[in-house]
Amino acid sequence: MNILFLNGPNLNLLGTREPKVYGRATLADIEAKVRTRAARLKVGIDFRQSNLEGELVGWIQQAKGKSDVIVINAAAYTHTSIALRDAIAAVGIPTIEIHLSNVHAREEFRQKSLIAPVCCGQISGFGEKSYILALEASVDVKVFKRRH
Ligand code: DQA
Repeated sequence: MNILFLNGPNLNLLGTREPKVYGRATLADIEAKVRTRAARLKVGIDFRQSNLEGELVGWIQQAKGKSDVIVINAAAYTHTSIALRDAIAAVGIPTIEIHLSNVHAREEFRQKSLIAPVCCGQISGFGEKSYILALEASVDVKVFKRRH
């Protein structure tokens, strides 16, 4: 099984970016924890970050036939990007939306996700643990898909 982790704009600044909201872990710290857990689960990981919407769209398109599940923290594009939503819908790969912070407890503009309707589910508010929870959910996504 292969899981593609995609990270959107400004997540390269984790560690120093608003630590009260996003914690002190860097994206590299989070990636290392995901890889350790994935090795135990015998799952392959591709872990990427981009500040560019089009690059994220390209990676989603290229995942067809390669990745079994996409885990995406689309960051600010969550709330704005019809292009990301359409890419997720187009490839048909089970996708899990994640956030470090609880977007529903923050500003009103963060409470709307354009990608949520085309994702299997959303994990929001558990800090870096959101990534591990999504990895564990990914392993069960095939079962989840069959049930729906
Ligand atoms: C975020 C929440 C988004 O609203 C924000 O734009 C981010 C990070 C999170 O992980 O909590 O950049 O996706």
